[in-house]
Amino acid sequence: MNILSKLGQQWRKPTGWPGRLLVRAMNINHSRLNDWGLSHVAIGKHDTILDIGCGGGNTVHKLAGLAAEGKVFGIDFSEESVTVSCRTNKRLIKMGRVEIQHGSVSCLPFSDHMFDLVTAVNTHNYWPDLVADMQEVLRVLKPGGKLMILGGGYKGGKYADRNEKFAELVNLAFLSVDELSERFSMAGYSEVQMFEEYGWGWICGIGRKPS
Ligand SMILES: C[S@@+](CC[C@H](N)C(=O)[O-])C[C@H]1O[C@@H](n2cnc3c(N)ncnc32)[C@H](O)[C@@H]1O
Repeated sequence: MNILSKLGQQWRKPTGWPGRLLVRAMNINHSRLNDWGLSHVAIGKHDTILDIGCGGGNTVHKLAGLAAEGKVFGIDFSEESVTVSCRTNKRLIKMGRVEIQHGSVSCLPFSDHMFDLVTAVNTHNYWPDLVADMQEVLRVLKPGGKLMILGGGYKGGKYADRNEKFAELVNLAFLSVDELSERFSMAGYSEVQMFEEYGWGWICGIGRKPS
């Protein structure tokens, strides 16, 4: 395995000290993407929120600031991501406002109808079966709750060539705006909204669980 495909594996599932370094770097690099994405959803003070593929935990931290009297959960199938997320949110975990768990999107360790909002930042392209996994998210959402999927890259747009090379490197298939929108509908979401930040090459999809 060459150095580039090793790096690709780290993006998919961070391991060891390089994985810990990588998710710390992502906390910084994905911060503006997070702010842009979160500006498209209304977050209530008392909301219960889940961030899937929480990486270094920066999204969880931001969400806890927005749902100031609510509770935020993070989940990731990488032990390293869980470790760094716990460190990033140490104070909030002590206060009982944040919980980080180890687990996969395909089998979420949460009861039905628990969350007002579920977020997924730069992770959906790695999920084993996107539509089935989005249906698993649907299970844990409250009726009327929303799933927001954010990506720092997608098929098409300003950075199409760069993204195609990256996708090859990490062995994933980026979706276009229309393809991601279609996945929301196939999984059973309603009122699907798609946003594109052409200049930065970002994509944001939001779907609602029917009431
Ligand atoms: C590129 S990182 C993004 C991390 C973070 N969301 C961010 O934006 O900085 C992808 C994260 O998704 C996690 N992940 C990938 N597939 C997953 C799955 N099937 N279930 C849970 N977590 C997953 C990885 O372990 C990794 O921490």
